[in-house]
This record gives sequence, C-alpha cells and structure tokens, in this order.
Amino acid sequence: MQTHQFDAIIVGAGGAGLMAALYASKGGANVAVVSKLYPTRSHTGAALGGIGAALGNLDEDKPLWHAYDTVKGGDYLADQNAAKILAENAVDAVIELEHMGLPFDRTPEGRISQRRFGGHTSNFGEKPVRRACHAADRTGHMILQTLYQQCIKNEVRFFDEFHVVDVIMNQGACVGVVAIQLGTGEFHVFHGKATLFATGGWGRVWQITSNAHTLTGDGAAAVYRRGVPMQDMEFYQFHPTGLYGLGVLLTEGIRGEGGILLNKNGERFMEKYAPKIKDLASRDVVSRSIYQELRLGNGIGGKNYVHLDIRPSTVNRYLAEAGETRRVDDAYIARALAETLDLCRTYVGVDPLTEAMPIQPTAHYAMGGIPTNIDAEVVTDANWTVLPGMYAAGEVACVSVHGANRLGTNSLVDLVVFGRRGGMKIAEYVKTADFIPLPPNPTAEAEAEFKRIRASKGKTKPYTLRKKMQEVMMDKVGVYRTAKELVEAAETMRELRHAYFTDLSVDDNGYQFNTDIIEAWELGCLIDLAEVTAISANLRTESRGGHSREDFPDRNDEKWMVHTLAYRKSDNPYGTETPPVETNTDKKVDMSLAAEDPRFLPKERVY
Ligand code: FUM
Repeated sequence: MQTHQFDAIIVGAGGAGLMAALYASKGGANVAVVSKLYPTRSHTGAALGGIGAALGNLDEDKPLWHAYDTVKGGDYLADQNAAKILAENAVDAVIELEHMGLPFDRTPEGRISQRRFGGHTSNFGEKPVRRACHAADRTGHMILQTLYQQCIKNEVRFFDEFHVVDVIMNQGACVGVVAIQLGTGEFHVFHGKATLFATGGWGRVWQITSNAHTLTGDGAAAVYRRGVPMQDMEFYQFHPTGLYGLGVLLTEGIRGEGGILLNKNGERFMEKYAPKIKDLASRDVVSRSIYQELRLGNGIGGKNYVHLDIRPSTVNRYLAEAGETRRVDDAYIARALAETLDLCRTYVGVDPLTEAMPIQPTAHYAMGGIPTNIDAEVVTDANWTVLPGMYAAGEVACVSVHGANRLGTNSLVDLVVFGRRGGMKIAEYVKTADFIPLPPNPTAEAEAEFKRIRASKGKTKPYTLRKKMQEVMMDKVGVYRTAKELVEAAETMRELRHAYFTDLSVDDNGYQFNTDIIEAWELGCLIDLAEVTAISANLRTESRGGHSREDFPDRNDEKWMVHTLAYRKSDNPYGTETPPVETNTDKKVDMSLAAEDPRFLPKERVY
C-alpha cells in the first residue's frame, strides 16, 4: 500500500473537479486529482448543447431572469440563495472560460453565440431567450479540454485510472480516500486536509440512460456508507430526447435550433401540453408529455418512441408559422449540430438532415446527492452542520440549485460556478488547517471487500443483478411512480443486495485492469443508490418537478417545501444485511429571493 499526501484531494476529473482543482491550486494548495478515467473522458463531455449565462449577446437578458427560470424550472424546490449565485456567477464564469481559450461559436459580430434551451426565458417567463453559450454541440468536451490544460499549467498532480472506493474519516473529519490503481490492483491512500468529491451521477441505475458506463455513483455511495446523508434522491431527471433503445443523449440544443417533436400522426404534440413555450418547456414537462403520447398510442409504428425533426424543411415551416425571419439550411444544421448528426448516423443509421430522429426519455441527471452549502462544504443535517474536510461539487452534490428539476445548460454552469467556489474555499481552509492523522489500517475494510468479491464463487453474475436492477428502476422508479411500485422497487433492491453479498460469481481474479471485479464493485454502489432513491421517492407524497406520483398528482407546498435527507444507519459499509435507512424532512428550502420579490414565490408552472 502506498500513501500520498496533498493539501487537497479532488476525486473526479470532470468539469467540477477540474475547476475546483484549478482554483485550489491557484490559491496556493498542493492538489491531487484522483480519477477513474483519463480526465478528458469524463462525463461532462456529454453536456452538449451549451452553458447558460445571461450575456445578452443576441437577446436582452439578465441574471435575475436566469435565477427566476432556475427556481421555476426546479418547481420551487431550488435553494434561492444558490440559484442567485449560479445566475450571477455564470456570466463571469463563461467569460473566464473564453479567456482560457474555450472555442465558443461566434455571432457575425464576433461575440459568443447563444441559443435557446428549455425553460430559459426573458422577463420572468415572457418568451424564450437565447442564453446557452455553445461550441457547436460539443460544449462539455470543450470545457473539459480547456480546464484540463489550465490544471496542467498550474501543476495540479493527476492520478488517472485510480478508482476511489472508500472515504477515510478520523476525529470527526474527512482525512482522505482509499483508491485502487486500475492498472495494478494495488491500494493507495490519499491523505489530505481537504477532500472534494466531484464524481458525477449514477444514471447506470436505470436501463435507458444517457450516462456513460462509468456513471455508477461510487463517490456518492462511498460517503453514504460512511454516514453522510443523501439529499433529495427522489428527484432524478429524464431528458426527453435520448436515442431510442440506446438512451444516448440528443441535445436539447436541437430543439433550441428549431427542432420539433412529432407523434405518429405528425402532430406537434407539445402545443397541447405547453401552448406558450411548446417544445422548449422544461425537461420534466416534455418527458411527461412524451409518455402521455405513448400511453395514448401515439408512438411511431406502435413503438415506444416519437420523432424529433430537425430537417430544414420542417424547421423553416415552423419558423415561418411563428413569424420568425430566421431560416436554416443543411450547412447551418451540419455545423451547429455536428455531434448530433454523427451520433444518429453512427448509432441508428438515421441522417437527421433527411429523416426524423427516433427518441424516448432517457435517465440523465441526479438533482439530489451529497448535501452541501454554497461553498461546496458537505453538510450533514438540517442545521447545515459542516463536516470538516469534506467538499462536493457538480452532479454528485446537492447544493440544491436545481431543486426538483434542472434546466438544460445549468449543469455546466453549476460545475464551473460551484467547482470554483469549492476550490477557493479549500485554498482558504488548507492554509490554516493541520493534517489530521490517518486512522490505523485505513484500507482494511475496502481491501477485505475486494478480497471477498475476488474470491466469489456463487451462482449469480453481476450482469444478472444489474439487469434486474435497471429494469425494475425503469419500470417502477421512472418518470411516473406510485407507492406500490416504489415499495416493490425498494424490496427488490434489498433482495439484489442479499444476492450480491451471498451468491456473487466473478470469473477473473487477476489484479491488472480487472474490469470484472471493478464492475462488481460498482454494482454494489448502484444498488445502494437505487434503494435510497426508491425510499426517498416513496417518502415524498406529492408530485414536483422530475418526481411524478400518480397517487399524489398535485404539488403540496404546505407540506413539501423541504428537502429530504436519507441516512444509512450502520457502521458496517458492506455486509449482507440491509441497513435501515432513516429519513428526515426538516431541511427547509431557502426562499431569500422570494423574501424580496414575490415573483419567486411558488405558483403553478405555466409554459
Ligand atoms: O441537452 C443537452 O445538451 C444537455 C445538456 C444538459 O444536460 O445540461
């Protein structure tokens, strides 16, 4: 076992991790980034269509309107202090990325180009606004490349292909992490004054997902197993436009450029569900509308998908009908949506310039996660008690800035804004904090668990358990939910956990790049997060944002303007017996904007 010591350990090398590492190092901290992937392969690359910022380059815009859309889009569960910071800081964060060299698309005048995205409006919901700053439809990729270069320049130390499997706690603080080096199978200890988790989401809990194979919630599961609660886990976003059957993301930027959703009769069905803003309603609304169409038998060819049409002839017809003067042609679409064309041609043999694309909602983004304050410090209860030394940012964190439903483009804003704030806070903290010593044998429990998995000689392959988990979560904890289904889903997760600990079978017991064992490990993390998602969803007896209860169809502001916290009550991070999960609903939503402006008070969302 090797031990490494740094002021700051950043776990994960997506946008949030890189931004935090950059700012911690700029502030003088000695920083290590520990990532299971090569950094530019991180999932930030999947946020395609743009990063929202009220630059006002093409339409009049203001940060306050962006904050309003964020709060309304989040169905009023977003903490309003966080939404204000997000919208205000977005502007200089984007300019900063531009100055670092990010190759944004340009307007003819040379300004950063902006496009429409769902739920983004001007003047408190009046009309759609062009707010998403983009580099074709590869914005997330460009952010990764840009920030990685900056981190290298700033001498951040990278440990690529090191998979973090445990959190080390001592004296009531987080003192580092345990990682397994994928190339050798050896355990390493990273000892730090501050540790920030930026490990992304857990879309692989579901069968149809836009998330890469690596999005298995390891960081969230590791801290959950060590007593940190998971906040608002019931809110998981289904992006409306995943490629049918595969879930691969087709960017909302397609609709931002004028793409239209059509059912089997060629009807633009969003006119029914969101008469004002139509295809650019927020994602929860559009995903539910697609499900309604499918339930009505309006799927294409009787199947579970509808069409997304970006053919210039279709787009121009609707632009003309809306009285807009803008027109598009093949060359424009091919340039603005290059990645989309590539994905569709490669994966389903559909050319979006001549055919409509088959789409279905796809599990995309966790609004919930590790609770933090606005400086990315992890908090452990409704009183905002800070856990010394532990930080989180990006999708794995719940600030909560997205409330019950995140607006498109706001994930990229979240990770640069709160990653940066976390990095700055860490730089300040490590200046005066001492290293808390490591406890004896910090790798013992994780090593024992890997030993158990490596020696597994049961009858059940991880693949079988994963498939069952994903099918059940898709059927019972998807866009629509009921108490009966949620209870059944939680029960299934407990059965799967039991099989995982008593009857697992892995084939490869080697040490170098043993993906068999790593996938089995990741499955354990997914099962834990799937269970807590089902439990939290059953607890919240209302419908709000991405959480739609058929047995409780209304939003209930009197009872539910609170966050849920779920605690795993066990000192044993592993083990066959399912630990009890204790829930708490005392954490109130921050309403600081509403205190000054009644337009931020909860009201019915009309699109
Ligand atoms: O649709 C998209 O381009 C995805 C962006 C996001 O999730 O923010």
